[in-house]
Amino acid sequence: MRSPTTFLLHAGLCVFVGGSGIPADWEEASAHSNFLFTETDAKVEPSLKASVGNGYLSFVVGSDTMYAAGLFNGAAPTTTTTTTAILGDDGTSMRARLPSYTSISLDAEFDVFATGLDLNHGTYSRRSTNQDSSTSIEQKWFCSQSQRHVCVMELSAVSIEDRTLSLVDGSGEWSDDLQILERETDGEFTILAAETAAEEFEGSGTIPVSIVFSTFISSVSLKAGLPSTFHTITAIRTAGDCNGGDNTCENSQEYVDGLSQLALSDAKDALEGLRNGSFFADHTLAFADLFESGVEVTGRTDVSRAVNSSLYYILSAIRADTFYSLSPGGLASNSYNGHTFWDCETWMLPPLTLLRPEVAKSALIYRFNRLTGAKLKAKSYDPPYAGAMFPWESASTGEEVTPAWAATGAREQHISADIGLAVTQYFYATLDMQFMEDHGMTMLEEIATFWLSRVEFDDEGGAHIVDVIPPDEYVDHATDSVYTNAAVAQFFYAASDVFQRLTNGEDAPSAWKSTADALVLPFDEQQNIYLEHADYKGEQIKQADVVLLDYPLGVEMDDEVKKNNLEYYANVTDPGGPAMTWGVHSLGYLGLQMWEEASENFNRSFANTQNSPYLVWQETPTGGATNFLTGAGGFLQTVLNGYLGVRISQNGLRIFPTLIEGSSKVVLRSLNFVGCKIDVVVLEDEVTVRFADDCEIDLFIGIEGDECSPFVSKVSFATPLAGQIFISTTQKIK
Ligand SMILES: *[C@@H]1O[C@H](CO)[C@@H](O)[C@H](O)[C@H]1NC(C)=O
Ligand SMILES: *[C@@H]1O[C@H](CO)[C@@H](O)[C@H](O)[C@H]1NC(C)=O
Ligand SMILES: *[C@@H]1O[C@H](CO)[C@@H](O)[C@H](O)[C@H]1NC(C)=O
Ligand SMILES: *[C@@H]1O[C@H](CO)[C@@H](O)[C@H](O)[C@H]1NC(C)=O
Repeated sequence: MRSPTTFLLHAGLCVFVGGSGIPADWEEASAHSNFLFTETDAKVEPSLKASVGNGYLSFVVGSDTMYAAGLFNGAAPTTTTTTTAILGDDGTSMRARLPSYTSISLDAEFDVFATGLDLNHGTYSRRSTNQDSSTSIEQKWFCSQSQRHVCVMELSAVSIEDRTLSLVDGSGEWSDDLQILERETDGEFTILAAETAAEEFEGSGTIPVSIVFSTFISSVSLKAGLPSTFHTITAIRTAGDCNGGDNTCENSQEYVDGLSQLALSDAKDALEGLRNGSFFADHTLAFADLFESGVEVTGRTDVSRAVNSSLYYILSAIRADTFYSLSPGGLASNSYNGHTFWDCETWMLPPLTLLRPEVAKSALIYRFNRLTGAKLKAKSYDPPYAGAMFPWESASTGEEVTPAWAATGAREQHISADIGLAVTQYFYATLDMQFMEDHGMTMLEEIATFWLSRVEFDDEGGAHIVDVIPPDEYVDHATDSVYTNAAVAQFFYAASDVFQRLTNGEDAPSAWKSTADALVLPFDEQQNIYLEHADYKGEQIKQADVVLLDYPLGVEMDDEVKKNNLEYYANVTDPGGPAMTWGVHSLGYLGLQMWEEASENFNRSFANTQNSPYLVWQETPTGGATNFLTGAGGFLQTVLNGYLGVRISQNGLRIFPTLIEGSSKVVLRSLNFVGCKIDVVVLEDEVTVRFADDCEIDLFIGIEGDECSPFVSKVSFATPLAGQIFISTTQKIK
């Protein structure tokens, strides 16, 4: 590989390339793990390349495809969702492919010599030069964090002599998922008014979308020694994104009618802003704001990088002001058809609830806006259930869109408890009364109604849930999946408590608690372990299942049982299973203060990302879906809820930190609790908790069991801690 000795940036700056091949201006950021550098990613598999995104638009750099949140095309399977079968066609619902008009490359004369994903600015850069190094090019891609409808490719070039630069259009074929209604041009922009080709359900409607992009120019001229900058802009608007994507805009038809004009002004404003510098500056500010909260680990660069990149990829796929949700493969891919599963509420939302609660709220509002779909699903069973039964896979309407070949659509049902628990966790973390009044309480009541109609009682008063698929999807038609039953019970307990708090002490329907008490959790007295389901006999399992009882469900059990569960189920877990399993084992061992086992499992928990220079998450050790945000979310939980020991409950916030093996300091920045921002600094001999901002609510802090005192600015505790650190809105801590 030729390594040019100098590289000219558009600012006219002369930057030397160091011996490692890393450009000098990238060196420092790269050393801090905020910048993932590689000389050339030409050899990196397409699925492991870097992506950029702003939670509304996202794409893998270099691919011919871009995706927009909520823009799904294709029919759900024709279903009669009974408990035994889904009938009919497989279903074709998936994300609609948008041609990626920012995908522009240089002709074969140029070689890439440096690429980097900048986690501090949300940009991906690629530097190239020609054979005699007479022309230097930098291309930079990003989707604006402050203007969600716009993504940009910026090309900066400088040449020693006058020349023409040839560009190659990588946007590929027009998309089968979209029908063009109208095509126009306005100056340098092409305007396409389109709509998705097929509706999700009969009568649910196709989705209008407007695409405005810089018309492709195949060559540009460069003047000797004069740096030039060009921009290629894509602006996308869909009918669903007015008013934050709730699909209920007051003037929805008006919005749709004006879609192309809005997208055109998005593009024109962006171009002007790019030329005067404000567009990128606004993006950078918004991006920095988004990453205000985070975790810094001194001494374990691998962990820091994994934390920073995991947060980066999750926050590229969802945003606070657009009410869509997360899919296991993120927003830059069509893995799992872009659908939303339990992965969102159980694996990705817990870290967001602590770090970016407004983003977690947006994902919950996505569910609220689709309660009608969940009620239709409940009614589709024979006999019908009541309330809200959330689909295993959700896209536009919130009705079931799992392909018909997968039995999970009919029988993987714990998701309705998972969503309910995410609502209660969000409430305990934020005390957001407005959300509960507008959305949360209705969700809890509808979910409770569903489970009451779903549970069956035996003659002795035991409550059972039959014929389900547990998180371990190698099993079907299970009776009393221990995870499902425990999740439903924990949901009923939490929902009862929240109900009481929101009604000034009125009791929740008594059936909520009594059903929770009656739900049977299969247990093997001989081996002193929980059984995955009533008929479990030691078969291989796909992924973490029983071990989820301890964390995140918080089912009370002896340490001995916890330990037995971890050991027993690790032994029978498919080593080729998905990424989030080992983080849960690490969390379990941390709770037992078994440090060596915790470290081993922790290391294993993020090994799947290490295959790619951009730390793209793979679903399994050998492949599967990318960018596997479920793994990213599970990993962040191991750091936040495991090593930092953060727990949110009805009593407040608990923190019980331990240093990560090999690190000398861990800083949790701007943890959000009831609207206050809290920093936690963990050192070998001391833990310090301090306010990161002026907080409007009175908080109290202390060690569990002790008297607590007003939390004013900063409190330090010597380690080993005598107990968990408690922060609460009430003086008395249980
Ligand atoms: C991770 O990102 C934060 C900024 O969000 C930064 O302060 C920190 O240095 C990064 N981690 C490392 C190891 O550089
Ligand atoms: C730059 O352009 C944007 C977009 O038109 C405009 O809103 C902004 O005021 C301009 N800023 C400056 C400093 O000229
Ligand atoms: C794990 O599996 C091995 C081999 O099947 C067995 O000998 C061992 O007892 C198992 N350990 C546990 C904790 O179940
Ligand atoms: C975990 O990984 C770190 C960094 O590679 C290493 O130093 C440590 O020994 C590993 N711990 C275990 C228990 O494997």
